[in-house]
Amino acid sequence: MPSLNQIDVYFSAQTCQDEQLRDKTVVVVDVLRATSTIVTAIANGAKGVIPVGDMGEASKISQNIDSEDHLLCGEKDGVKIQGYDLGNSPLEYTRELVSGKTLIFNTTNGTKAIKKSLGAKELLIAAFLNIDMVVETLRFLDNEIVIVCSGWKGRLCMEDLMLAGNIIYNLSDGQMHPETPDGAKVAFSIYEKFGNDLESVIFNSNHAVRLKEIAGTEDVSYSCRKNTTRVLPVLKEGIITNRHVEKTE
Ligand code: MLT
Repeated sequence: MPSLNQIDVYFSAQTCQDEQLRDKTVVVVDVLRATSTIVTAIANGAKGVIPVGDMGEASKISQNIDSEDHLLCGEKDGVKIQGYDLGNSPLEYTRELVSGKTLIFNTTNGTKAIKKSLGAKELLIAAFLNIDMVVETLRFLDNEIVIVCSGWKGRLCMEDLMLAGNIIYNLSDGQMHPETPDGAKVAFSIYEKFGNDLESVIFNSNHAVRLKEIAGTEDVSYSCRKNTTRVLPVLKEGIITNRHVEKTE
């Protein structure tokens, strides 16, 4: 595991430069809702998720793969994109709909954060839904770690900060090292203070309030659940798949 002075947090994908992520282990976080949706899709058997930066890129890719095998998915400003098969509610990504499919995935902030991290040595997709898998894997990777909070259009999101803090808290067994970078200290401290009230803090976050108007509250409750799955989506050669093969009895 890298020492605790080698973990930092960027509070919005827009505030970090590609160079700052190059060759690092990058953990992308977008609790509401992109990374919660990706984790759910992979857990429900999606063959892979291709993150894209905009609708033009999505339609170009969709023209080049078999239409039976893929779904166009995503949102703009929280609302399903017209003509797409699925929006960005993790609850839409049922096994019945996504198993065996390649998902072309386009979201307002989350997929842009992933695209920004393409130069990473390892790129992990984190949600509360798979937090233990993320932490267990980071313990084995001997490389500098950067947690990238997707945020909302350049602004910090409380739910992303809470997950970043929870990851660091668990990795450090609840002990903050004095030399840990400021970004990681802030995330750790916020989680330490509010972690016991995770769901109510996230329900009052700006994006949860926005989402309540668009999609109700179910996605928020779902995305606050911890360790519902043992998958760890990772990006390799432009496609997100599961890093670990589930053991069968
Ligand atoms: C994003 O990428 O900005 C989000 O996942 C937005 C959403 O809640 O759909």
